[in-house]
Amino acid sequence: MNPRRVASLAFALALLVPLQAAADPVVSPRVEALISRMTLEEKAGQLTMNTTSPPQEAQYRDIREQIRAGAVGTTYNVHNPAQARDLQRIAVEESRLKIPVLLAHDIVHGYRTLFPIALGAAASWDFEAIRKSERVAAEEATADGLNMTLAPMFDISHDARWGRVVEGAGESVWLASRIAEARIKGLQGDKLSDKSSMVACVKHIGANGAVIGGREYSAADVSQRAMRQDYLPPFKAAMDAGARCFMAGLNAPDGLPTIANRWLLTDVLRKEWKFDGVVMSDFDGVKALVEHGLVRDGDRIETARLAFLAGAGLDMQSGDFYRAIPKLVREGKIQEKDVDTAVRYILKMKEDLGLFDDPYHGLEAGRTKIAPPTREALATALDLAEKSIVLLKNEGQDLQEGGKLLPLRPDVKSIAVIGPLADNREDIVGAWSAKVSLNEVVTVKEGLQQRLPNARVVATPGGRVHDARDEEIAAAVQSARDAEVVVLALGEAFGDTGEAQARSNLELPGRQMDLARAVLALGKPTIVLVMAGRPLILTELDQIAPVLVNAWQLGNTTGTAIARVLFGDVEPTGRLPMTFPRSIGQVPISYDYRPTGRPYIQGEGFRMGYGNATIKPLYAFGYGKTYTRFTFGAPRLERATMRAGETIKVSVDVMNDTVRPGTAVVQLYVGVKVARVSQATKQLRGFKRVRVEPFTMKTVELEVKADDFAYWDVDGQRIMTSGPIDIMVGPDAEDVKTATLEFTP
Ligand code: BGC
Repeated sequence: MNPRRVASLAFALALLVPLQAAADPVVSPRVEALISRMTLEEKAGQLTMNTTSPPQEAQYRDIREQIRAGAVGTTYNVHNPAQARDLQRIAVEESRLKIPVLLAHDIVHGYRTLFPIALGAAASWDFEAIRKSERVAAEEATADGLNMTLAPMFDISHDARWGRVVEGAGESVWLASRIAEARIKGLQGDKLSDKSSMVACVKHIGANGAVIGGREYSAADVSQRAMRQDYLPPFKAAMDAGARCFMAGLNAPDGLPTIANRWLLTDVLRKEWKFDGVVMSDFDGVKALVEHGLVRDGDRIETARLAFLAGAGLDMQSGDFYRAIPKLVREGKIQEKDVDTAVRYILKMKEDLGLFDDPYHGLEAGRTKIAPPTREALATALDLAEKSIVLLKNEGQDLQEGGKLLPLRPDVKSIAVIGPLADNREDIVGAWSAKVSLNEVVTVKEGLQQRLPNARVVATPGGRVHDARDEEIAAAVQSARDAEVVVLALGEAFGDTGEAQARSNLELPGRQMDLARAVLALGKPTIVLVMAGRPLILTELDQIAPVLVNAWQLGNTTGTAIARVLFGDVEPTGRLPMTFPRSIGQVPISYDYRPTGRPYIQGEGFRMGYGNATIKPLYAFGYGKTYTRFTFGAPRLERATMRAGETIKVSVDVMNDTVRPGTAVVQLYVGVKVARVSQATKQLRGFKRVRVEPFTMKTVELEVKADDFAYWDVDGQRIMTSGPIDIMVGPDAEDVKTATLEFTP
């Protein structure tokens, strides 16, 4: 037979394979009984998610009507417990089949208690602290009647221009995967039916963080192989930890909008991973197939057909599934049994949440208002906030013995807190601040004053984040001149990061560098705090400031956490989850780049890199100082050879050369030196946090598993190959020592 015809026959046969059959959820009699009674419209309704947007009365009336009619099975943006009760009551009392509704919200870094932005929390490298933060968020949100969050987000990104890096776990696939496990366990609890558990809809599957130029919603140039190796692992880890929902990215890696990507949504998710949860679109993602140029303008039936056939099972906001699915079935363009499968995933999730038996789930009886954070919740938030702070530089100004400015002495008499974020709540809460109450956010000034009740702590903004007048800067300089110690609180404004907040420049906004230069020129003991939702370019500050602290956006307990770290009540243990570039020209940048045919060597020509600049970052992935100085030895391997299935021990000596006890974060990287596809020279594969006493050496043991050397080949296989492997250990991705082993799978 002519090979062309063989190919088209194979294609035709492939279309006959039941679409989502690969991982049908375990059949439940209750769910099956419901499906057998549902009209096509009711089925399409279950595959539809619409927003409530309560300030708009008319829209709220519409959503009530849609739930009553069975036209919507999931809604989001519920704003209070009264509304949650109202909508759920309509679903279970007034709709024909009495199917409970999923009530969702974007709970990205806390609900009522605000935690550090997700990127900041990732700097803690503390999975238990992150898990606990999600537990608090789930307890608070379920008590208000919510049962689903459109989060967490694990879009790997190497581009700080992209505003959504604020929501992710940074650039390392390994770190993001461990954080994914922690967040899912925190949100979904031990079992979904527990009253304080909620469904986590992990987003945005695809390669949403690979947007070209960091431009929001932009195209991405990512092969299937790269997607598997560099973008999907945190999603797989989330699924293995129990995640029951994925949201597809809005962008189009390799030209194919994710919501229409059957390879990803069906072949990988359903057939390979056996995912038995829900795959949803992002906001208007189905409709956007027109704007992407896959569907003719106005054909909102074809948009639904493409997304549904690719494997999407819940349409956020566009309404296309509701409009099109009954028609497509009646016209024989999609099969009703595939619609049933998609409905089954949704209903099974509702059943596993326990909603059929208790539709109000965790919603507290009689609750009408959102409750303020509890003392325990704030303690959990403070712990994570402290752990998220990264000390970038700590030089001396002779205020402290040993020549370091930090930790500050407790007998400081006066502090000038200078800068637009000195005593500012609005700008420091970060994107997706959910239900935080601004008046409960502790500012930097308040935190320092609480810590030193008898000292004079004065805040002078020196202008706003995006603009300042000369007189405002002059007043701030005067205030700094009068104080013993200066804390300069600089960074981004609310709304500078987050969705649709890509930036073409990563310097401190406005005239903040003018302010910093003027204040630092005084030569006073000065701590520069940077509070931003992304890595900013701090190259000049690194040169002129003696002390630099990256404090992200830390949530409710911002000022308290900062004060406790500055005064050494707790040591700074945060480590960067994303590389900080030296200049905008270096972006995108990440620690796990590939060697290339002409690997980079500093100062040598005709090598990968720039003719006029280094490729080395300002601060590497994994970087962060403590108040202790450590010296790391070279890694020692238990054996010099290793086979598949084996694990070997790697030991390293860590010496504390100072008078203070301290915590080292000992990081382990591997580099597969010979493979079928060129591999990154280093990839994080583990770490250990160890406390080392003054002038003491500790031997730290880490483990390397053969699986750490696996990678994805061009034909979609995850493989391991023979050859040398670099095992690297150090305090960050740049500063490592290497031992090499020989691996035979
Ligand atoms: C974002 C999603 C978010 C949704 C609902 C979209 O524009 O991309 O991450 O969950 O809006 O708020």
